[in-house]
Amino acid sequence: LRSVACHCCDWIRHHYGHLSAEYLSLLDQMGGDITKQNAPVLFPTSLYRHIDDAEVEDKVRFRKEVIYKITKLFDGNMKSVTWDKKNLDDFLKILEKQFENLNSFLFNFVRHVSPAMKPERRLKRYFKKLNRTVLRKMNYSAQVWELIRKEMKRHLQRLDILVAQLY
Ligand SMILES: *[C@@H]1O[C@H](CO)[C@@H](O)[C@H](O)[C@H]1NC(C)=O
Ligand SMILES: *[C@@H]1O[C@H](CO)[C@@H](O)[C@H](O)[C@H]1NC(C)=O
Repeated sequence: LRSVACHCCDWIRHHYGHLSAEYLSLLDQMGGDITKQNAPVLFPTSLYRHIDDAEVEDKVRFRKEVIYKITKLFDGNMKSVTWDKKNLDDFLKILEKQFENLNSFLFNFVRHVSPAMKPERRLKRYFKKLNRTVLRKMNYSAQVWELIRKEMKRHLQRLDILVAQLY
């Protein structure tokens, strides 16, 4: 278990910084300036704080889950969006690849039946709220997608902090 954890940490150390810089830059460049408005949801700060204290496995699993949810959210109705299609596609491709890699690492772990489930439920509720009460209620407008873009940038930056704790 230990060696798998370290293998995963090594992988994250070697690939993550570079990838993170790349997808954050794609997110910035796919559209204009990041909006100054905030999405009408509470950022799950306490959830991240909880994960800050979690085991490596749970941190990696949480990271995987957030990335998965981001890719699913961006799979919604984007008809009104005028972002650069190539940057958006590349952004999502990197995240999907990252999800697959993290998933294959986690496959090697023996799954604890632990409170790890709870953060995942909270994360699910938060993203459901973003989808239903933000995106859908605001008719998938270009404006609401800008709020989502900003919110997702915040998540990816917060995940950087989480991952930095692994080395
Ligand atoms: C968001 O909501 C739409 C419409 O209700 C649904 O089709 C879609 O699967 C949902 N997306 C996510 C990521 O839950
Ligand atoms: C979204 O669209 C519906 C139906 O077209 C409309 O009734 C509603 O006012 C719109 N909401 C917003 C926030 O634009």
